[in-house]
Amino acid sequence: MTDHATPRPDTPTARTAYWEGIHHDKDIDGVSWWQSVPGLSLSLVDRAGLARDEPIIDVGAGWSTLVDHLVERGYHDLSAIDLSATALQTVRDRLGPAGKDITLTVADVLDLHTGRTYALWHDRAVYHFLTEPEERTDYLASLQRTLRPGGRLVVATFGPDGPTTCSGLPIIRYTHTELARQFPGFRLVDTAGEDHVTPWGTTQQFTAVLMQRR
Ligand SMILES: C[S@@+](CC[C@H](N)C(=O)[O-])C[C@H]1O[C@@H](n2cnc3c(N)ncnc32)[C@H](O)[C@@H]1O
Repeated sequence: MTDHATPRPDTPTARTAYWEGIHHDKDIDGVSWWQSVPGLSLSLVDRAGLARDEPIIDVGAGWSTLVDHLVERGYHDLSAIDLSATALQTVRDRLGPAGKDITLTVADVLDLHTGRTYALWHDRAVYHFLTEPEERTDYLASLQRTLRPGGRLVVATFGPDGPTTCSGLPIIRYTHTELARQFPGFRLVDTAGEDHVTPWGTTQQFTAVLMQRR
């Protein structure tokens, strides 16, 4: 995270260039959101109680270790998408043979067409970048195309006492209630939160919800 917000990349090309640049220029633990164990996400995925063969997608996965931990838990239909090819290559290299069945795809969550559906959609620290209503509408359309009826949604954003920018970009902070309201057609199953400790020792408040599509 930087102190000064940079101009928002608000086209698909600009977004890709921005996020590819971030991952190209930084070390794995050089980004504020890095965590070796994604405890908040894993707790909500665990609470979703999926069978091990049900498909899970992590959107805006970056080089998160979520898929590594899901492989360890025995899930074997895993997909992750991100705008940054570099971030996904880092995941591919890190996982080695353990990741041979994981689908990693460069794609924009605001225009996502995977050609299949999933039982769980996970997003940590992506939705909060959508400061424009039309971006949130596009995200919802991707979610509705991609998540099965009855499927689970796990979303984590900065909380009301969290930072006002992330990776140099403005974000929207959410309470649990505000976050749950973003997803019409979903029922709230559970809430969680954490004070994420960045690699340089500061804390960032996260809000997270587990929801189920009706
Ligand atoms: C703050 S990072 C969070 C990464 C990861 N979810 C985690 O918790 O470690 C945001 C990630 O979302 C990706 N991203 C941002 N906008 C995106 C979009 N429109 N479509 C897909 N990925 C996007 C970025 O490349 C970056 O990897």
